[in-house]
Amino acid sequence: MSAKKRIRTAFGLVAVGALAFGLAGCSNDDSSDSGDAGGSSSDDLVTVGFVAVGPEGGWRQANEQNIQDTFTEDAGFELKYAPAANLDQKSQIDSFTSFVDEGVDVILLSATEASGWEDSLKRAQEAEIPVVLLDRGIEPEDTSLYVTRIAPDNVEVAKAVGEWAAAEFPDGGNYIVLEGPAGVGVVNERNTGFEEGLGDSSLVNVASQTANWSTEEGKSVTETLLKSNNNDIQFIFAQNDEMGLGAAQAVEEAGLTVGTDVKIATIDGTKNAIQALADGQLSFVHEYNPLFGETAIEVVEKALAGDKVDSYIIVPSEAFDSAEAAQAVLADRKY
Ligand code: AHR
Repeated sequence: MSAKKRIRTAFGLVAVGALAFGLAGCSNDDSSDSGDAGGSSSDDLVTVGFVAVGPEGGWRQANEQNIQDTFTEDAGFELKYAPAANLDQKSQIDSFTSFVDEGVDVILLSATEASGWEDSLKRAQEAEIPVVLLDRGIEPEDTSLYVTRIAPDNVEVAKAVGEWAAAEFPDGGNYIVLEGPAGVGVVNERNTGFEEGLGDSSLVNVASQTANWSTEEGKSVTETLLKSNNNDIQFIFAQNDEMGLGAAQAVEEAGLTVGTDVKIATIDGTKNAIQALADGQLSFVHEYNPLFGETAIEVVEKALAGDKVDSYIIVPSEAFDSAEAAQAVLADRKY
């Protein structure tokens, strides 16, 4: 059965259900031959349109490279990589539409913006092309329009940051949040989780501002906020590593010491941040594991085989709360 025939048959059966399967348990145990089409002719390859974000930072590079390294011809796939032009959603929607018109078998979507996807997703549904969300969710969250979302749980990851901060500052203090770009779904999820984790902490939020995932903006925004608060800031929650590394530069240039005067927590767990934690330039790093290509393949194969798939597949991620913990993983860090 060609990949396209299999898709048409399978899509009719795909339903979002409660049958969850974990990363470990996600073994390719179905009879579909899509996983072993390696070396077959191109007709047998499953064509996958990857509507990607493109250059954005260390995490994105690791995630998108992992997808490309996993969806190979040997694994039975023809991956068509379509990064956004300058993070522009319209370029993503254009790529998405082209993939639907071309009749790819599956679409992977990492959305630059959370909203504005309903029409595209409905077109894919009408064309019986399953869509799998990678990392980023969409708003409104209509799980009937896609097979599943594969990502670490932003709310739980950020909640762990909030819990750590509350424990670190039992007597309170002032903090700022460096956010990702407005309109990106993970930003709201991370704010929600962080505030949940803080609980009834007496830490006070003196400012929350986007620094657009970047080290340069993380530094400049932190410089401005330190000045406007007379350096009376004891904690910085940076929603990704690059912004946290920029904040650390600003703290040091203000004559303050990371760890003693100001603690900095970040999310992602890229090698640079783990190294900075080991060197005392960051205080806490929570991984947001980008390496889920194998899980994505297993989800695609289950969708093609008509198996039910949970609407959100959580990628496990761990926290690092000390220089020693960072040192212990540095040598084997894969991203
Ligand atoms: O959506 C995940 C976020 O996007 C990462 O935390 C950030 O580094 C990336 O740019």
